[in-house]
Amino acid sequence: MKYKVLVCGNLAEDGLAILRAAENIELDVKPELKEDELTAIIGAYHGLVVRSDTKPTEKVIAAADNLKVIGRAGTGVDNIDVPAATQRGIVVMNTPGGNTVTTAEHAFALMMALARNIPQGTYSLKAGKWERKKYTGVELYDKTLGVLGVGRIGGIVANRGTAFGMHPIGYDPYLTKDAAAKLGIELVSLDQLFARSDFISIHTPLTPETRHIVGKDAFAKMKKGVRIVNCARGGLIDEVALAEALQAGTVAGAALDVFEQEPPPADHPLLGLDNVIYTPHLGASTTEAQVNVAVAIAKQLVDFFTTGAIFGAVNAPSVSGELLTELKPYVELGQKLGSFQGQAFGSNVTRVMIEYSGAVANLDTRPITQAVLVGLMTGTSNRLNFVNASLIAEERGISVSESKNRSAKDFASLISIWTETDSGESDVAGAIFREKDLRIVRVNGFPLEAIPKGNMLLCTNRDIPGTLGRICAVLGENSVNIARLYLGRKEMGGTAISLIQVDSTASEDVMAKLAEIPEVLKARRIQL
Ligand code: NAD
Ligand code: MLT
Repeated sequence: MKYKVLVCGNLAEDGLAILRAAENIELDVKPELKEDELTAIIGAYHGLVVRSDTKPTEKVIAAADNLKVIGRAGTGVDNIDVPAATQRGIVVMNTPGGNTVTTAEHAFALMMALARNIPQGTYSLKAGKWERKKYTGVELYDKTLGVLGVGRIGGIVANRGTAFGMHPIGYDPYLTKDAAAKLGIELVSLDQLFARSDFISIHTPLTPETRHIVGKDAFAKMKKGVRIVNCARGGLIDEVALAEALQAGTVAGAALDVFEQEPPPADHPLLGLDNVIYTPHLGASTTEAQVNVAVAIAKQLVDFFTTGAIFGAVNAPSVSGELLTELKPYVELGQKLGSFQGQAFGSNVTRVMIEYSGAVANLDTRPITQAVLVGLMTGTSNRLNFVNASLIAEERGISVSESKNRSAKDFASLISIWTETDSGESDVAGAIFREKDLRIVRVNGFPLEAIPKGNMLLCTNRDIPGTLGRICAVLGENSVNIARLYLGRKEMGGTAISLIQVDSTASEDVMAKLAEIPEVLKARRIQL
C-alpha cells in the first residue's frame, strides 16, 4: 500500500529526499496552509508534516478521515490540537533535540545582545549617530541567571551561563534536586527565581499551567533591573504586563523571539520600546537545526509507515522497530487476552489490573497495556486504537494499573489480567510458547492451554459425567464442527470450564440450546 503524506511549509530538502525515496510513500509538498485550505484536502492523506505556521486544529482533525500520523518538524506541538488527534487515534510526533543547541545558542545570543545593547547600537550607527554613553551595558559575569524550565534547552543555556561566570538557578517542578545539581543548577522555588535573578531566560512549554507564568504578579516579585529573555513561546509572558514593567523600570530590558500573536501587530505595545530587542521566531533557524529536524521527522514517518515503529510521539509510547519485533508477540497476546476477557466477562469494566511476570517484565510494557485495553474495549468505540486506548479508558472512569514481577514461576513470561465489572471479577492469563505460539493458560483460576484463535465457545458447567457429551451433541446436531477442545477444572465434581474452538459461529438458537442443558451454568461466544 502507498501512504499519502502531505508536507506543509519549508522542510529542508534532506528530509524531503528521504520521504521521496520511500517506496511506500507518495509525497505532496505545499506551502503553509490556512485552516480551511488544510481542512478541504486533509481527508486524502495518511501522514501530515508541519512546521509551526500550519495548524492542525480540531476542525482539520475532524476532517482527517485517513490520517494516522502528524509529524512536527520542530519541538513545540502547541500549533497542533494534540487532544483532538489523540481522540481520533492519530499519533503526533515531534523531533525533540534536533534544534536544542541552536535554540539555546539563540537564547544566549539574545541575552548577550540585550546586555550590551547590540541591536540598538547597530541601528543608531546606521542612522549616522555615535552614542557610546547611551548604550553602556552590563556584564553577564557574576550575575544570577534564572532558568525557568530546566529541560533540554534550559539545561544548555545554564551550561553556557556557567561558562560566562554566571550563577544559574532554576525552577522546574518536574526536575529533582539531584538532576539539577548534575547540571550545575541550584533548584529554587518560582518566587525565589523571580526575586534573585539578574537575567531570566524562559524555556518551558506553553501549556494552560504556564500561560502568563511571567505576568503582573511575577514582575512585582522581581529584582529591580532584571533582564528577561523569551526564546520559548509567546503566551508565557503577559505582554501587556511586560510593557508596563519595562516602562516602570522594574524590568531593564527584554529580548523576545516569540510573541502571543505571530507576527505581532504593528501597534504592539512592545514594538516601540527601545529597551526591548526582537527576532522573528528565529530560535531554531540555523542550517544545521533545519536539516536535523527535517531528517528526523522524515525518518520517523518512514519507520512508522514501514515497520509501525513509533518514535518521538507526544501522545503514545515510543516503540522502536527493534523493540516492536521483541514486543510483537506480547502485544498480540495482550490484545487477544483483553478481547477474550471483554467478550467472556463483559467490556463494561471499572477496574483493570495487569501483571507482567518473568522476562516480559523487563520490557517497556506500555504498548502491551494499550493492546490489552484495545482488546478489552473492542467493539465499544469506533475511534479506539493503540494511541487512544488509555485515554478512552480514562474517559470511562476505568482504573488501569500495571505491576511487574521479574521472577518467573511456571512460565518464562506470563501476562495476567484481572478485571472488575458491575457483575463481578474475572481473570485471564496468557503465555507464549516457543517464542511465538500464543496460549491462554488460565481462565478464572482454571488452568488450561488454549490457542486464542477463531470462533470459540466458553462454557462454565458442573463437572458431572456426560455434560461435555451433551454440549458436543448440541453442537453436532446443529452442524457446528469442533476444531479443538480445552478443558479446565480445579477439583473433581466441582465447576469446570470448556473452551471449544469451532469452525463456524454458533447461532443464537445453538446458544439457547446450550443454556438449556441443566449442568451448563453459562455459555458465551468469543471471536478472536
Ligand atoms: P523540554 O520539554 O526539554 O523542556 C521543558 C521543561 O519545562 C521541562 O523540563 C519541563 O519539566 C519544564 N516545565 C514544564 N512545566 C513547567 C512549569 N510549570 N514551570 C517550570 N518548568 C516547567 O523542551 P525544550 O526542548 O527545552 O523546549 C523548551 C521550549 O522552547 C518549548 O516551549 C519549545 O516549544 C520552545 N522552542 C522554541 C524554539 C524557537 O524557535 N524559539 C525552538 C525550539 C523550542
Ligand atoms: C520549535 O518549537 O521547534 C520552534 O518553535 C521552531 C519552529 O518554529 O519550527
